Amino acid sequence: MKTIRVALGERSYPIAVRSSYRQLPQLLDSLRLPRHGCVVSHERLLRRHGRGLLAVLRRAGWRLDVVTVPETEASKSWAMARQLISRLAATGAMRPPVLFAFGGGVVGDLTGFVAAIYRRGVPYVQLPTTLLAQVDSAIGGKAAIDLPQAKNFVGAFHQPRLVYSNIGLLRTLPLRQRRSGLGEVIKYGAMADPALFAFLEQHLAACLAMEPRAARVMVERSSAIKARIVSQDERDARGIRAQLNFGHTLGHALEAAGRYRRWTHGEAIAIGMCAAAQLSVELGRCPRGQMQRLVALLQAAGLPTRARGVSRAAVRRALAYDKKNLRGRPRWVLLRRLGRVVVSEAIPPTTLQRVVSAYLS
Ligand code: GLY
Repeated sequence: MKTIRVALGERSYPIAVRSSYRQLPQLLDSLRLPRHGCVVSHERLLRRHGRGLLAVLRRAGWRLDVVTVPETEASKSWAMARQLISRLAATGAMRPPVLFAFGGGVVGDLTGFVAAIYRRGVPYVQLPTTLLAQVDSAIGGKAAIDLPQAKNFVGAFHQPRLVYSNIGLLRTLPLRQRRSGLGEVIKYGAMADPALFAFLEQHLAACLAMEPRAARVMVERSSAIKARIVSQDERDARGIRAQLNFGHTLGHALEAAGRYRRWTHGEAIAIGMCAAAQLSVELGRCPRGQMQRLVALLQAAGLPTRARGVSRAAVRRALAYDKKNLRGRPRWVLLRRLGRVVVSEAIPPTTLQRVVSAYLS
């Protein structure tokens, strides 16, 4: 199985894709970290899958504390960050513990944020357990908590020392979460990897079932794309990392309009990708057949391709909020063809309004 490198000079790190935690201690040893850690996770996840992980680390001589947080987005808060920091400070250890984020995006973002600010930055390791986290949020060092006004509004770039993705866990995820993660994998295929896209088309049932080979291909290929893009544009300042947001302009607005309960992230970006592809076709930037293949794959994966029953006003408000944060210009990632996208801030407003409205019903 593969180890992929995120090349960032002295902040470089490996992404190990494995089917168990057996090789984790060996990889940690190569990083020369103190064998004292704090595992941040969820209670249910720890009960289900934590025993094996903790046993492997303890057998290798790791001294570990364990902290659990509730399984909701609300855990990405100042209150939870403060609680976690108090726990870390209470150990009184001279050398701060290595933080382990064992969970999905919520645990990864919160742990990364605390690791960024506690004692001006301590090392942390991402142990993502969902498909979405393995292919996206655990990689790239974007760490943040939410404010009541908006998601991810307080944060930092703080790269982990290691991402260790155990794909053996993915089969146990509920179907809706597997589909949601698949939405991000389809995004990688559409934006950067036609061979991955074709693989998903040909082996969709195996991908949805998280069969070992399919899971490995999805996580390895997606991680390699994200690693390459983060290496080129770590701080999202060159318009390269922005390509990862294919489907996210409308996707984020739908998540906000649905109060983060109506759609999962993968569902919202599936609708967002359809709208962005339609926009690309109408602007003459993408052949219609390419868009149709994308829509067909999303539908076959059981993902929504239109937003039904959403308040148009709420979506418009969320899109306007996004626009305000981007110096008044809405930024869309357009599809050129499957495997290639382009970032644009020059979309004619009337076309935009017409296309977005067509996706809200
Ligand atoms: N998930 C988008 C990024 O990491 O930049």
